[in-house]
Amino acid sequence: MINKKQLINQAREIFKTNVVEGYSDWKKTSYRYIAPAKKGYPYQWLWDTGFQAIVLSHFDTNWAKNEIRNLLLVQDLDGFLPHVIFWDETMHTPLWASMLSRDNLHVHTTNITQPPVLAIAIEEIYKRDKDKKFLKEVLPKIGKYHRYLLEMRDPDKTHLLSIISADESGMDELPIFQYAAGLKTNNVFLFHFYNRKADILNKFNRYDIKKILEKDYFTLKEPFFNVIFIEACKSLSRLYLQIDNKTEAEYFKKQANKAMDALIALCWDTEENIFYPTYSKNNLKIPIKTIVSLAPLFLSDLDKQYVDLLVQKHLLNTEEFWLPYPLASVAKSEVFFDPSKLPFYWVKALWRGPVWLNANWLIIKGLQKHGYDTIADQIIKKSAKLVAAEGFREYYNPFTGSGYGKENFGWSTLLLDLL
Ligand code: GLC
Repeated sequence: MINKKQLINQAREIFKTNVVEGYSDWKKTSYRYIAPAKKGYPYQWLWDTGFQAIVLSHFDTNWAKNEIRNLLLVQDLDGFLPHVIFWDETMHTPLWASMLSRDNLHVHTTNITQPPVLAIAIEEIYKRDKDKKFLKEVLPKIGKYHRYLLEMRDPDKTHLLSIISADESGMDELPIFQYAAGLKTNNVFLFHFYNRKADILNKFNRYDIKKILEKDYFTLKEPFFNVIFIEACKSLSRLYLQIDNKTEAEYFKKQANKAMDALIALCWDTEENIFYPTYSKNNLKIPIKTIVSLAPLFLSDLDKQYVDLLVQKHLLNTEEFWLPYPLASVAKSEVFFDPSKLPFYWVKALWRGPVWLNANWLIIKGLQKHGYDTIADQIIKKSAKLVAAEGFREYYNPFTGSGYGKENFGWSTLLLDLL
């Protein structure tokens, strides 16, 4: 079994290897960040930055803070934070960047966001170094980002946020997105088109969020994104208290509670006893069991009746999520389930069954919040086994444990935060 000290050394090495730095003519500032994997993912991603900062908080809080500061350099006036920043202007931006941005050629950032983990990361950093100056510096910015989400992503005032692209969930190839876009069967050839259909329409609508949500061709209420938002609001609330701002603390706590009630009202399925995402303003359920269905376990205030049903009926179900290496990102019982890495890009899909350590991290934290420590420990041990055998890979086969995707992948070091 890997010990914490070893893991710290390994994480430090990986982060050092993945550092990218330079000067941005666009922002007139120098930049420095940890890329998710220098080979293949050389840009700065929002939720990767948050996860990596959580890991860094264990051994270098200053570095963790600088990672967050670097991301905040590009915050829009309305509070928006992009999912990817293409800092290096000499680098050729990929095709998908233009698809996810208003701009065509010189793309600096995408115009979509990603799960808002930053407040959670900041609370982890604060727990370890009690730096109130840092809180005073960053909380107004994170608060502004949360307000942007509340104002722009909740058009019908349901208290749940809607995402406009599969990429905003961070789990871009889950079958729930193609379903919302109209492809309800497992057709590997049509899949890529339907998975990107919302992005094509978003581009056509020039990433005008109000217009996009009004046209209502996607409007996806995704539980994983929303539970991160809810817990991040609670983190913000607790942190605001640390700097004696009771008004903001109250405000974000209230938002968290409202969103949790809405999640139960709109996404809980009383027949299957599981949470499903919804799409469109009519909140139609997407009846596919994926890791997002278990994400509400991460909510510290989730009622025990939901927790027990999720754990007993689904998480521990060997036909669904509990495979030799838990947890499957798509339930084995779904036709969309595919545990392996397929040889051709056309049919290759990252989030169709393999194990991802950031998703495991979130569910493990949830299990611990609700007293399911033994099950949490079992998943931690299995996750550690994956890393010991295959290294810090992007994702893993849930039957064989084979490591797939990028090597030296940043957020897989989250294992450190679980030991
Ligand atoms: C993949 C993942 C996304 C992640 C990115 C960088 O696109 O699906 O969640 O942020 O890689 O690691």
